[in-house]
Amino acid sequence: MSTTDDLERSGPDFGRGIAVNRLQDGGMLLGRVGEDDVLLARVGSEFFAIGPYCTHYHGALADGLIVGKTIRCPLHHACFNLQTGDPLRAPALDPIACWRVERQGDTVYVREKLSPAGPSSRKPPKSPPSVVIVGGGGAGLAAADMLRREGYDGPVTMISADDSPPCDRPNLSKEYLSGEAPEDWIPLRAPEFYSENRIDLLLRSRVTAIDVAGRRVLVERGSSHEFGALLIATGADPIRLSVPGADDPRVHCLRSFTDSRAIVAKATEAKRVVVVGASFIGLEVAASLRIRGIGVDIVAPEKRPLERTLGPEVGQFIRDIHEAHGVVFHLGETVARIDGRSVTLSAGGVLDADFVVAGIGVRPAVALAEQAGLALDRGIAVNEYLETSVPGIFAAGDVARWLDRRTGERRRVEHWVVAERQGQAAARNMLGRQEPFDTVPFFWSQHYDTTIRYVGHAESWDAVAVDGSLADRNCSVIFKRGDRRLAVATISRDRDSLRSEIAMESA
Ligand SMILES: Cc1cc2nc3c(=O)[nH]c(=O)nc-3n(C[C@H](O)[C@H](O)[C@H](O)COP(=O)(O)OP(=O)(O)OC[C@H]3O[C@@H](n4cnc5c(N)ncnc54)[C@H](O)[C@@H]3O)c2cc1C
Ligand code: FES
Repeated sequence: MSTTDDLERSGPDFGRGIAVNRLQDGGMLLGRVGEDDVLLARVGSEFFAIGPYCTHYHGALADGLIVGKTIRCPLHHACFNLQTGDPLRAPALDPIACWRVERQGDTVYVREKLSPAGPSSRKPPKSPPSVVIVGGGGAGLAAADMLRREGYDGPVTMISADDSPPCDRPNLSKEYLSGEAPEDWIPLRAPEFYSENRIDLLLRSRVTAIDVAGRRVLVERGSSHEFGALLIATGADPIRLSVPGADDPRVHCLRSFTDSRAIVAKATEAKRVVVVGASFIGLEVAASLRIRGIGVDIVAPEKRPLERTLGPEVGQFIRDIHEAHGVVFHLGETVARIDGRSVTLSAGGVLDADFVVAGIGVRPAVALAEQAGLALDRGIAVNEYLETSVPGIFAAGDVARWLDRRTGERRRVEHWVVAERQGQAAARNMLGRQEPFDTVPFFWSQHYDTTIRYVGHAESWDAVAVDGSLADRNCSVIFKRGDRRLAVATISRDRDSLRSEIAMESA
């Protein structure tokens, strides 16, 4: 028998039944079945019982949104099938648990937990003799995972220049760098995932050429791999500083797990660091190093951080947050020279630094595509199915510029969720699913305890409206051209972010 305290803490026991009218259409109620927390959701006259936490970062699905017979996570917009628990959209790659629900008159009972659905039993329309994926990042891993989920049975080879298996790259500038996340959070999949799913993962292996006519890729040190279908998911390379002294081992970039480990190793002894660049990576690195108690100077040419992407209001707000945490900005300046511990700025000032981190942007890694003669457009040009100018060769993630059917514009973005979803879409299209990629772009960025979520895409706009208050950290910032909403950035308004995404999907 539960006490009132128990009931308040863990909600009603759905195994004992709950009155139908406790839940309105589209409503959700937290409770439990035995020892398990369960979220009961209603869609029309149907009820669904699911695990209440997202399998990506444990987001509380009760704070998300029900859309048809799916539920979206408030944190990074993963989407799950309410009937099967299937992760329909990255960044979640694993299903949530589901329970059988039984209705008797006006009472709903949650019964036993259901077995996960497993790989699709629908035979894919096409089955290439083999698939090669170049790149072991978010897009590459999501593609390999989706090939197996879709029931593809042929050989899958993933070739990665990285030292480590596909990792949670966004975390490398956040909790891992600040010391709040242990090493074992970082791999996207456990080592046995690759053998169990017959994914041949080749690490420290750089593909040097694509032989389009011979349908094979060539890897440095001489091996080659034939492909029936190929995915190029080579991501983007960080731009290096090109000032005197920039080749000093004290100067770091941040893209890979190895890069982040190298910064962590130096951070354990450091007192002062110079971060070059006031965009997302630079700012997140600054926040993580401040959390470690290290003094941080940020040097960047712009007037306000993030102004180009998020406008002057949000830029100033972000600057204020970082300054409140002790970061010192040197804006309107660049680095002229690095001599050991001394970083000389363009206006002549000199900063002391145990090490330097450069976050001055990336370039899409198009060398392979260029060599193979694929069509380029400031990235690899792909159609709405993410196929390049050569049939059977696809591209996804930071390297791909795709045709956005919703706006008719070509886009290339550097967002984690987009990269993973493109990997998934490319995998399905390799198997003949013919599904256009039509995700509304989404990214998030974290600065201490403030997270910005952003849906849509606005390279330029003619009006910015702030609904709510930046100072109170509770607002939606709307970027418009004419009457059209191009993008919405939110702080502490996660449902609004999901609503904006849904509105843009149907615009
Ligand atoms: C530190 C950091 C933090 C970030 N934080 C966020 C965030 O908070 N939110 C967000 O939305 N986005 C974030 N991003 C961006 C996001 O991580 C990228 O958009 C995403 O990783 C792109 O995935 P991808 O698979 O296209 O490329 P990547 O993940 O970069 O993977 C590319 C892969 O290709 C391999 N490769 C390249 N060339 C070759 C070759 N010739 N042969 C073999 N392998 C090759 C590389 O070794 C790598 O394995 C962050 C990025 C970084 C670096
Ligand atoms: S926690 Fe759910 S999408 Fe990240």
